[in-house]
Amino acid sequence: MAAAIRLARWHQGRTGSNPSVATLIVREIDGGPVIIGRGVTAIGGRPHAETQALAEAGEGARGATAFVTLEPCAHHGRTPPCAEALVTAGVARVVAACTDPDDRVSGRGYAILRAAGIEVCEGVLAEAAASDLAGYLARRTKNRPHVILKMAVSADGMIGAEGAGQVPITADIARRQVHSLRSVSDVIMIGSGTALADDPELTCRLPGLEGRSPIRLVLDRTLRLPVASKLARSARSVPLWLATSAQQDDPARAALASLGAEFLAAECHDGRLALPELMEDIAARGASTVLVEGGAVLATSLLDEDLVDRLILFTGAVTVGERGVDAPFALARLPDGFVPVRTMQYGPDRMDEFERQR
Ligand SMILES: NC(=O)c1ccc[n+]([C@@H]2O[C@H](COP(=O)([O-])OP(=O)(O)OC[C@H]3O[C@@H](n4cnc5c(N)ncnc54)[C@H](OP(=O)(O)O)[C@@H]3O)[C@@H](O)[C@H]2O)c1
Repeated sequence: MAAAIRLARWHQGRTGSNPSVATLIVREIDGGPVIIGRGVTAIGGRPHAETQALAEAGEGARGATAFVTLEPCAHHGRTPPCAEALVTAGVARVVAACTDPDDRVSGRGYAILRAAGIEVCEGVLAEAAASDLAGYLARRTKNRPHVILKMAVSADGMIGAEGAGQVPITADIARRQVHSLRSVSDVIMIGSGTALADDPELTCRLPGLEGRSPIRLVLDRTLRLPVASKLARSARSVPLWLATSAQQDDPARAALASLGAEFLAAECHDGRLALPELMEDIAARGASTVLVEGGAVLATSLLDEDLVDRLILFTGAVTVGERGVDAPFALARLPDGFVPVRTMQYGPDRMDEFERQR
């Protein structure tokens, strides 16, 4: 199952609104287990992992064991359900990690298999698989994407400096880690404060992964984003969404639209865009993971609304000093309700990852 979970990561962030799952078909050959078929959800979401793995295994699938990272689907969509494909192929045993919370599948995939006399073993490495499937599971169970809040804090507790644009807080290795995170996210979200202060590009610029940049989303109530900004100028090559309450006839809207920006109509509460509703709209557009790279104002709003599932905190070795912008949280003062899951050292910088306590 650990191997299947690793295989599923190959297409993470590239399977549209479907989750990236994997299947391995294994049988005993000469007294030891041998993988005779493997499949991962194809780029774009189809075909599913099971059918690809079964095709590779061919007749060898008869009597074999299938390892699946998510319960096989049970509903007739554009293709017959994967649970039926496993039955037809004659596998003897299915070992599964996560149960699919989709109403059309939940428990039904297993029921189809058991009704056909297949031995089913559920919940193997379920937590590890669920961590990679967090976006899909959040969309199905909470009707919103999985939200990762990333923040870089200097040694003196700052996230930037007033009027200084982008202030480097971490070094190269940590920055590349952030680009790697971007490559598996569907959406990067910032507030207009960061868009104006930093003029960021928010693309994935790792060699070979340039094509994996997610949609960039700016919360821009009154459409303050300049047409000359890097985000606006690159909107034709990397999608740019602007969440706004600006009217249809706002001139800024026409100018940004002509550069390729798309708009998400958002409601306003107390002078801020309504985040829970916005998250629902993002999920409805098929996006499962949101990486937040905004400043203190957006981070605080998301935490206050209980919309953060994971915190990624980089602590840099540099100090910002005078005119520094205070971090909303730091290692010594974390928001309530988060538990540590991982600490890494990237050159001079430290990275701590925390998960919302369930
Ligand atoms: N170290 C880091 O990790 C890091 C990351 C990003 C930024 N920064 C620094 O942070 C500073 C910018 O900070 P910031 O706090 O102004 O940026 P921000 O949090 O990204 O943007 C805040 C703005 O977003 C808009 N917004 C719309 N709806 C919102 C909502 N529901 N909740 C919160 N904001 C909403 C508001 O402007 P409108 O009213 O115009 O919509 C608000 O003023 C810069 O100095 C930048 O360098 C540091």
